[in-house]
Amino acid sequence: MPTAGRASERLVWAVDTLAVGPSDRLLEVGCGHGVAIDLVCERLTTGTLTAIDRSPKMIATATRRNREHIDAARAVLEAVALEDADLGDQRFDKVFAFNCAPFRLQPEAAFGAVRGHLARSGTVHVFWDARGFAPDRTGDLGDELAGRVRQGGFSVDRILAEDLDPVPAVCVVGRP
Ligand SMILES: C[S@@+](CC[C@H](N)C(=O)[O-])C[C@H]1O[C@@H](n2cnc3c(N)ncnc32)[C@H](O)[C@@H]1O
Repeated sequence: MPTAGRASERLVWAVDTLAVGPSDRLLEVGCGHGVAIDLVCERLTTGTLTAIDRSPKMIATATRRNREHIDAARAVLEAVALEDADLGDQRFDKVFAFNCAPFRLQPEAAFGAVRGHLARSGTVHVFWDARGFAPDRTGDLGDELAGRVRQGGFSVDRILAEDLDPVPAVCVVGRP
């Protein structure tokens, strides 16, 4: 995984595209170092962010980075895999994941795990960087991810692409 420092530009872009409102309820799957947690929580007042990662090491790092948001009850972090997560009766306005394998490799299971936890008008935002794609082939990644969104039983709301350093990134927004 890239270091948190190099991750910043793509994660700033990603959180910008989420257009986080102050009362939004969000779920991040595969939060890694927790950089996006901080960027999201800065925009929340009454809203909350639940962030999960299957790696206890990543959650420990993300917890250290976001202690202030956790103490203020804006962020709740848990070391658990998406497929094992018990999200109870929580409903999210936005679910997002950046470079998180299940949404690309097991889309039926991954989208199925969050479908029942979306609020009315809730959306899923799947981000991926275009590492390994030729600069003029970023659209192929967008198309591939859009296919995964549809495989997961969602419709594709929009596909975004951004030219970032060191590589472009794409986002596909899905609705159930
Ligand atoms: C490539 S890292 C990306 C981390 C962060 N989203 C970022 O972009 O910097 C993928 C993260 O997803 C987590 N992950 C992979 N599969 C997962 C799953 N099934 N459930 C929860 N987290 C998962 C990994 O532990 C890892 O921290």
